[in-house]
Amino acid sequence: QDGDVAAGEKEFRKCKACHMIESPEGESIVKGGKTGPNLYGIIGRAAGSEEGFKYSDALVELQASGEVWTVEDLAAYITDPNTFVREKTGDDKAKTKMTFKMRKNQADVAAYLASVSPD
Ligand code: HEM
Repeated sequence: QDGDVAAGEKEFRKCKACHMIESPEGESIVKGGKTGPNLYGIIGRAAGSEEGFKYSDALVELQASGEVWTVEDLAAYITDPNTFVREKTGDDKAKTKMTFKMRKNQADVAAYLASVSPD
């Protein structure tokens, strides 16, 4: 179902501890932590592809599987990162570095992130 961008922007508060949103020109859209990768333009971006970020083997495998983030897949990933990656890669031992799980309003966050990308 379609998410609500404004609601998702508020929900993104839960992500900021670990993720910032910053454009390639260096414009800060959301100030946040550096534990996780920059999420600017994440929808349509290949999984595990932020230059210089040290991803887990699980995210490297996810990228190798050809995963490109869609709103649906991002919503599923934040619901349960390990389960998502295990299903996509077929590696039932894959373990991501993201320990956070979001059990509601995932579609809103995904819609918000889709709105924060190049035109
Ligand atoms: C990775 C989204 C909350 C830590 C990712 C990725 C996405 C994402 C889409 C994959 C990025 C890529 O492929 O480049 C979100 C959203 C959140 C959230 C939407 C809030 C709902 C958090 C929180 C933490 C965190 C709270 C820290 C406690 C990480 C880390 C990675 C990651 C460490 C890298 C995973 C790995 O290499 O295995 N996140 N995240 N995230 N996130 Fe989050």
